[in-house]
Amino acid sequence: MLERRFWPNFAFIFIALIICLSIWQMSIVGPYPSTPITPQYNNVPIYTLNTVNSTYTYPLEQLPKLDYSKLMNLNDFQFDILNECTSNPLLLVLVHTSPKNFERRKSIRQTWGKHRTNLKIVFILGTVQNSKQQKKLEEENKKHRDFVQGRFLDAYKNMTYKHVMAFKYAIYHCPQAKYILKTDDDVFVNMPTMMDFLTVELSPYGARNLLLCTPLVHSSVKRTFRSKWRVSFHEYKERYYPPYCPGWALLYSPDVLFTLYQEAQKSKYFWIDDVLITGILAKNKNIHHTSIRSLVLTRHNVDEIATNQSGSHNSSRIFLYGPPDLSIENMYLLWDFVKNQTNSKIILKDHR
Ligand SMILES: *[C@@H]1O[C@H](CO)[C@@H](O)[C@H](O)[C@H]1NC(C)=O
Ligand SMILES: *[C@@H]1O[C@H](CO)[C@@H](O)[C@H](O)[C@H]1NC(C)=O
Ligand SMILES: *[C@@H]1O[C@H](CO)[C@@H](O)[C@H](O)[C@H]1NC(C)=O
Ligand SMILES: *[C@@H]1O[C@H](CO)[C@@H](O)[C@H](O)[C@H]1NC(C)=O
Ligand SMILES: *[C@@H]1O[C@H](CO)[C@@H](O)[C@H](O)[C@H]1NC(C)=O
Repeated sequence: MLERRFWPNFAFIFIALIICLSIWQMSIVGPYPSTPITPQYNNVPIYTLNTVNSTYTYPLEQLPKLDYSKLMNLNDFQFDILNECTSNPLLLVLVHTSPKNFERRKSIRQTWGKHRTNLKIVFILGTVQNSKQQKKLEEENKKHRDFVQGRFLDAYKNMTYKHVMAFKYAIYHCPQAKYILKTDDDVFVNMPTMMDFLTVELSPYGARNLLLCTPLVHSSVKRTFRSKWRVSFHEYKERYYPPYCPGWALLYSPDVLFTLYQEAQKSKYFWIDDVLITGILAKNKNIHHTSIRSLVLTRHNVDEIATNQSGSHNSSRIFLYGPPDLSIENMYLLWDFVKNQTNSKIILKDHR
């Protein structure tokens, strides 16, 4: 009697358990998104295949008359050094740099930022007060022709001017670019893979509605005086920031960039640029983030690459970026590593 009832009961419990487990799984991971670009905060990257030719051009007529000489709350803005975009790049890279970071700029020029067709890289700077230093910068620019310097003091709390000025450059001086990457001078971009990603995974004709980054959610506002990121209640009153993208790896489509530029020009100044632009303003305009977190190398991966000189170890996974705050030494290391990889044409969408 007992034995005859055991098996049906067991089967019932077993099936119930499976159902519970799958509901639990669904609640953690969520069903796979069916719409192209949705907010995505787990580690699963999603990609839109945009095979439709994007014919987007910046609608400059929507900007106010004096927009060009205005940078948020600065009314007498101008570019002091400018290098126009002469070709039709697939990708425009805007690298935030500090005037003193000569070695960092050099490391980018010698590694991932090396000249290639379809790519335009500029370094974004503010003004310096020391005229000797300015001379040096001008000489560096004369040699490489890759600076964009605007009229505001290059200072930590002026980062937001830099970001919005970089947008201004993209809109007025490089409108041909199909994609725009905003990054920092201590970041490694796996440029061969990035170019494949844009042409094969996205579209060589450009895409729409795109902000690819490594989003942060529920990030609390730092109030302690010891923090470099301390923000007063006067500057920002909420306890948490809206979901935003850390500024070292922001890949924009031109339409998103334009919308955010328009909003930023009207916005109150807030010095944490990525929070303002990709958080507060993006939220206002209903712009979503797509996570590419799984395509960023970890520090551990870099250590692996550094310790195994054979080049055949297991960090040869697909990646678009190195970890942020990379040392100059590791910049060269990763470039050697990337150059050694022969299978660069990897289809990322098969990598889910
Ligand atoms: C996009 O434009 C290119 C070049 O003009 C053309 O060769 C291609 O067929 C177009 N693709 C689509 C999907 O319209
Ligand atoms: C930011 O730039 C403006 C314009 O040059 C300048 O007046 C201001 O002092 C700078 N801010 C900081 C914190 O240096
Ligand atoms: C790249 O390949 C060369 C030659 O095979 C090797 O000496 C070097 O260690 C490799 N570098 C990396 C970072 O894998
Ligand atoms: C280095 O790579 C080789 C080849 O894949 C592997 O067998 C070895 O364990 C690696 N060594 C270290 C220290 O990771
Ligand atoms: C690398 O990782 C993959 C799967 O993660 C594994 O199949 C492969 O054996 C690993 N290769 C080495 C050399 O450890």
